[in-house]
Amino acid sequence: MTTAHAHPNIALVKYWGKQEKPGNFPATPNLSITLAGLTTVTRVTNATSDTFVLHGNTTNDPKLVRWLETLRGTFDVPPLQIESENDFPTSAGLASSASGFAALIIAINTHCGLGLNQEMCSEWARMGSASAARSIFGGFVALVPPQWQAIPMAKHDHWPLEVVVAVTSNEPKSVNSGEGMERSRLTSPYYNAWVRDAATDFAAASEAIVGRDFPALAAVAELNCLKMHSIMLTSQPTLSYWTPASIACMDRVRSLREAGHDVFFTMDAGPQIKAVCLPTSTDAVASALSKTPGVLNVIQSSLGEGARVVT
Ligand code: DP6
Repeated sequence: MTTAHAHPNIALVKYWGKQEKPGNFPATPNLSITLAGLTTVTRVTNATSDTFVLHGNTTNDPKLVRWLETLRGTFDVPPLQIESENDFPTSAGLASSASGFAALIIAINTHCGLGLNQEMCSEWARMGSASAARSIFGGFVALVPPQWQAIPMAKHDHWPLEVVVAVTSNEPKSVNSGEGMERSRLTSPYYNAWVRDAATDFAAASEAIVGRDFPALAAVAELNCLKMHSIMLTSQPTLSYWTPASIACMDRVRSLREAGHDVFFTMDAGPQIKAVCLPTSTDAVASALSKTPGVLNVIQSSLGEGARVVT
């Protein structure tokens, strides 16, 4: 048996849209931070046929089945029992597929002796879920052309940002990311502008991270998130991941910032708000968000390491 741990990551410059070719390549450069406070644990054992057990329940996951088939096109991988648990809501906009595929390729690589280095693991994780490519690494991570293997930009201790996740729903999302981004590519009138401006946002965010410039990172990351949600909202049929609680949390983050706190929000394909802050503001942010109507609970996290085998 081989066990691996991986953490979800939160994109500060988002991936929303794929290239029109096989291999699950993002249309735009994107970058993220890896969170220490949320964890996926995945165990891989030899079995007589493939079985996938999520939180103790045998599940049929077509995306996982297709990915294993592709992996077996290159490597000799025996039938496997894959057991996985997340200590956070699954498929609810908290990047469970990112940590899931990252933990899985890392576990299979060791279990089956595939001999992949981290970059190659990142490439295989990307084929499962492109955001998973980033969870192979810790700290600040970029996913950029031409290789589309994630690149570690800076370790987690380069800039000890913290994240407060305001959970507003534990329900799985109604439209998954892959389907949603394809809908946006085909129907949003603003999709081309989104693709065109991505490199500029990526460059500005990278510069802010290198220079530890919080106001600059806050400005570009918050705007990039709102641009992505504009693409979602203008897709047909519309993709609306916001709830009244998500909007209330955004307002709360803006007023905290006006009151002098170093904080900005970001949001993915789900109603949870992720408030990224400097450690001096974390307690105030957590307290304010936990009191915001509709917030079920808050999770505090520092930045963490990449995916790794633990046994
Ligand atoms: C909104 O990586 O889940 O979280 O490659 O189709 O599996 P697939 O999509 P996925 O999309 C993540 C979208 C996002 C933004 C991001 O993480 O960059």
